[in-house]
Amino acid sequence: MVKSNKYTLSASILAADFLNISKNVKNLKEFGCNEIHFDVMDGRFVEEISMGPIILKSIKKDINLPVDVHLMVDNPEKNIEQFSKLNVQTITFHYEATSDHKSIIELIKSKDIKVGIAINPLTDVENIFKYIDQIDRVLIMCVNPGYSGQKFNKKVLDKIKKIKKYCNQKNLNNTFEIGVDGGINNSNIKDCLEAGANVFISGSSIFWNGDVKSNIMSLYSSMESDNE
Ligand code: DX5
Ligand code: ZN
Repeated sequence: MVKSNKYTLSASILAADFLNISKNVKNLKEFGCNEIHFDVMDGRFVEEISMGPIILKSIKKDINLPVDVHLMVDNPEKNIEQFSKLNVQTITFHYEATSDHKSIIELIKSKDIKVGIAINPLTDVENIFKYIDQIDRVLIMCVNPGYSGQKFNKKVLDKIKKIKKYCNQKNLNNTFEIGVDGGINNSNIKDCLEAGANVFISGSSIFWNGDVKSNIMSLYSSMESDNE
């Protein structure tokens, strides 16, 4: 049995009911989530446009969990200052969105915020190896970024294993976060855990069908179930 304090279940509120957003975010801690994932899309890096600092600021008063801002935007350096003022715990930018990773890492760190780098399904995880000592989280995208509710791409399991192996070689295994985002559900969450992931981001599996509390419990049960 895996102990739940060893990993993070992060709710992607992009998939939540925005008519009841306040109620939705308030209850997530009580229901067992330990992070809120805030997806920012600019209509350029990805097709869709989602939400920005103004929305986060207004719902922040109802958020009682750490926040990870997932920047699916070109020129991520332009958005860091504004988010850094909103008491967020992690800012994750995309490897593909910039050629100056080092400056963005330094900028986020200078705000005392944890740094994540996300990689798209077609990006090799080896590209991240050289930054591993400088960042807190790798976010492995299991779908092409842009929408909630897409199908999990099983090929990412190999990437998780590769980055986990590299972290072990570098003795980073206890602190380093390996996140998975996109299509996480009851039938693949344990595979991700066993491959080495320790941060599980989920949108539609938590918010779209049925009751949010039961959906969260069900994700935990799927992770903690003994192998048949
Ligand atoms: C997708 C976003 C995800 C998304 C996850 O581009 O980055 O965070 O909201 O939603 P599901 O779990 O439905 O794929
Ligand atoms: Zn996301």
